[in-house]
Amino acid sequence: MTLQERDKKYLWHPLTQHKLHPEHLAITRAKGSLLFDENGKEYIDGIASWYTCMYGHSNNYITNKVAEQMKTLDHVVFAGFTHEPAIKLSEALINILPNNQQKLFFSDNGSTSVDVAIKMSLQYHFNKGEKRGKIIALEDGFHGDTFGAMSVSGLSVYNGPFEEFFIDVARIPVPTEENIDSVKEEFISLLEKENVASFIYEPLVQGAAAMKMHKAHLLDELLSIAKKYQVLTIADEVMTGFGKTGKNFASEYLINQPDIICIAKSLTGGMVPMAITSCTQEVYNTFLCDDLTKGFFHGHTYSANPIACTAALACIELLQSDEIQNDIERIVKSHQDFDNKIKSHPKVARTRQLGIIYALDLALEMERYGDLRYRLFNFFMENGVCLRPLGNTIYILAPFVITDKQLKKIYQSIEKMLDTF
Ligand SMILES: Cc1ncc(COP(=O)(O)O)c(C=O)c1O
Repeated sequence: MTLQERDKKYLWHPLTQHKLHPEHLAITRAKGSLLFDENGKEYIDGIASWYTCMYGHSNNYITNKVAEQMKTLDHVVFAGFTHEPAIKLSEALINILPNNQQKLFFSDNGSTSVDVAIKMSLQYHFNKGEKRGKIIALEDGFHGDTFGAMSVSGLSVYNGPFEEFFIDVARIPVPTEENIDSVKEEFISLLEKENVASFIYEPLVQGAAAMKMHKAHLLDELLSIAKKYQVLTIADEVMTGFGKTGKNFASEYLINQPDIICIAKSLTGGMVPMAITSCTQEVYNTFLCDDLTKGFFHGHTYSANPIACTAALACIELLQSDEIQNDIERIVKSHQDFDNKIKSHPKVARTRQLGIIYALDLALEMERYGDLRYRLFNFFMENGVCLRPLGNTIYILAPFVITDKQLKKIYQSIEKMLDTF
């Protein structure tokens, strides 16, 4: 039996209706920007496996560091104990995070980093003796699948069974040049009427909403207002973090820095899961008290796992290297050239780019998550390119180490798709 056949017996895959999509391609090996299936066919990983493996799959620099760490200290409880990998990581990360970030809290994935941020923001006001229970989020945002993260995400047909159990959230439209005045009005009216604890947003790029982008100065206007009302601002940089937008963090494009930042995904370069919620000294200080119960009683068994911390530290070293910084510049330029070539194609409705994130919307009618998405995905895979269209949006978010030749192959497969569909 092939792996693909054996898979069906016991495995339940994420985000999958198994009745409609029972087949799962078995990948046996990955290196650099390539995935290899069980028949030896190769695919360029055009989305860096959900934006994690940004330094290339099975990157030797990271694997060597991780292998050494595995032999020295595998795991230890992070409550009451500490270790060098976490300490070194904290020093390196604080150095690249926006200046106001001072404390790091560990968890396991993007969703839990958001749940931690939400809980932190609720308890921040609770500890100050204020009753603030509402969170404001942007429409169409995506923050993950745990209850808190799901609650602050945009409404989705998939959340039907859970909606009545959501935490208290109000959603406002993503600001545009056209709607900014009405969005500000709506925002202020919520802040005046409700007891708002925090405002959560994906800075500049809403990943799961098909790489929808908004302008920094518009988001800044909302952040200025939030600050006036002492509402904590939470930047979910799970997708945008670590160089993808052309800066280490998308928040660097903004004047108003967030009180709390969520990071995961490429934090560990796809090697092992880990997430961090960072915050300002002011947020942290609100939890410092002789009263035990004012501490933050949240914790995951694998918090600050030394192997994950080592992987993350290696990733930060790579991110800061000249090689990776040059790769980022190279990809930015390459996408711009491709954009100039493709943007007036009759089947391209619009294109957008920030850093190495490139997206194009097809001028084709479809339902979101309808059949077209699967046909496009299969077309790209047959052509040896792994791109996962979101609705009728094709996006590229490839590893920084992708070669020019591999990039060209992605572009050519998109052009071929435009001629075919
Ligand atoms: C912006 C953002 N936040 C949170 C998450 C959730 O992360 P995870 O899948 O690691 O739980 C994602 C996942 O795509 C994301 O894009």
